Amino acid sequence: MTRILFASVGRHWRLLGIGLVAILLANGLELLSPFYLGQAVDAITRGQEGRIPLLALAVVVFATAAALGQLVRRLCFSGLGYRVETELRTRLFAHLLKLDQGFFQQIRTGDIMARATNDMSAVQALIAIGISNLGNALVIFLAVVTLMLLIDWQLTVLSVCLFVIPHGVLFVIGPHTRRRFRLIQEQFAAVTAKAQENLSGIRVVKAYVQEESEKRAFRALNQDYMDKSLAFARIYNALWPVFAITDGAASVVLLYLGGIHVVQGRITLGQFVQFMTYLVIMSGPVLGIGWVVTYLYQGAASLRRIEEILDRRPAIVSPTAPRQPDQVRGEIRFEDVSFSYDGSPVLERFSLLIPAGSTVGIVGSVGSGKTTLVKLLLRLHDPKGGRILFDGVDVRDLPLEWLRSQIRCVLQEPFLFSDTLARNINLGAENPDPLQMEWAAELSQLSADLDQFPDGLETVIGERGITLSGGQKQRTTIARAVLSRPAVLVLDDAFSSVDTSTEEAILTGLKAAKGIQTRLVIAHRVSTIKDAGLIVVLEAGRAVEQGTHGQLLARRGVYARMYGHQQLEEDLLRWRNRDGGSQ
Ligand SMILES: Nc1ncnc2c1ncn2[C@@H]1O[C@H](COP(=O)(O)OP(=O)(O)O)[C@@H](O)[C@H]1O
Ligand SMILES: [Mg+2]
Repeated sequence: MTRILFASVGRHWRLLGIGLVAILLANGLELLSPFYLGQAVDAITRGQEGRIPLLALAVVVFATAAALGQLVRRLCFSGLGYRVETELRTRLFAHLLKLDQGFFQQIRTGDIMARATNDMSAVQALIAIGISNLGNALVIFLAVVTLMLLIDWQLTVLSVCLFVIPHGVLFVIGPHTRRRFRLIQEQFAAVTAKAQENLSGIRVVKAYVQEESEKRAFRALNQDYMDKSLAFARIYNALWPVFAITDGAASVVLLYLGGIHVVQGRITLGQFVQFMTYLVIMSGPVLGIGWVVTYLYQGAASLRRIEEILDRRPAIVSPTAPRQPDQVRGEIRFEDVSFSYDGSPVLERFSLLIPAGSTVGIVGSVGSGKTTLVKLLLRLHDPKGGRILFDGVDVRDLPLEWLRSQIRCVLQEPFLFSDTLARNINLGAENPDPLQMEWAAELSQLSADLDQFPDGLETVIGERGITLSGGQKQRTTIARAVLSRPAVLVLDDAFSSVDTSTEEAILTGLKAAKGIQTRLVIAHRVSTIKDAGLIVVLEAGRAVEQGTHGQLLARRGVYARMYGHQQLEEDLLRWRNRDGGSQ
């Protein structure tokens, strides 16, 4: 827990140093005033009024200087807190980007959001309130006890026993357990996750009239969060009346014994006043330790939650000594590739050679493992058995970024950012070439739609492309994939929302596209891949048939049946439409 915090705080050692010096100075100055106050009281009892103005001035000057010192302390520690929070959040974000798919499958986005916001604030408070006040309380406690011992050791021991120990013990073992704070933070994460999921799926929520039930579910989570927080607050606040009673009783005892010491002449009245003032000065920070401990525990619980992510090593990384071919041909070979997500096999000893310069089609029913092949090729996951070779080199030996820039995929679910169309297409490119952009928009048949948008390619689209139609989203992601003319282009069910004539136009354009060597077209619609040089039929993670359209039809196997069914469906559809039209 402390490692990350120390490292981050250590980077701002100057600020920390000034803060610590401020603690020492402020308390030193503050503790000088009771001394002069005591002197003033003794001056009064001895009838030396002449000394009083100077002593009073000293009290005021030192108290003011101490207050300034405390101001510096607060500024330093809150500055430190915000800096550490900011750095930690940036680091968390950078780390999240490095993590693999598998991680994001296990954790909800809302939970991550809670860690990046709520937990970060708790870490900030841990430093700005927790550590700052704890340091202050420790210094003042040690200094005051030393000074009090110099005046009257018996009274000192009594004060520590009566005031300090009860507060310390009750607060530290009382309501503050890290577990309790962890539960509260986790509940908050659940609330955030619920809100996040509903807001991003708002269309479904509305379409299925789920507003009421989602509202109820959210209210239940939120209520639970309140209950957990209140349970803590109740115990915490119940301690205060207890202290009021013990502190009151302690004061009476102390006044009585102190009075006796004064009467006996063991200390002067001025010294007794000085003693009691020390106690008052100390009581604020030291007795407030329980309040400070709350922030320490809360911060520690939050830090642990942040650390859980930071400690997570990405399962898929670039090799330390990568091999990088000088020339890219664009050949892909799957060799006995097996894969399962959580136990149940998705691919079983799948082998396929995709020669450089070819167009290969993969067809198979939903859930047969087509998308999984793409994920393995891109190294979003690594195979459990077998290997995938790119131009003869195992993809795990290639630099990860390089591999992904050679193979561009149009993923089944298009994802667009809330930015301009142009920036969505040239994702990551610093200086996009306008001619290339135009070419990519033309090839993906997006150009035809551009006049529908007020600012053409410069139109800002809604979050996740909410302002575009499904087909427009798909064609935007096709433009994105072809823009850099990658050696290998993979289209994973990329035409599901595109009509067949547009699909044909795009496929024809792709064949002629310079730079793009190899095309892998995945579809569940046979018509999409029927012109491919080689067609592979995937069934339950196995390649069951291979060949050209003609060869596969002649085999009268799975492919031929699939084709027959789909033809029949299309014919029926056409028929029905014509029928509907004539009526
Ligand atoms: N992230 C995942 N976690 C667990 N199982 C998954 C995941 N993605 C896909 N699957 C399962 O793996 C099988 C193959 O999925 P997929 O490759 O997406 O099929 P296809 O693209 O052919 O429709 C399916 O049975 C699916 O339920
Ligand atoms: Mg798929």
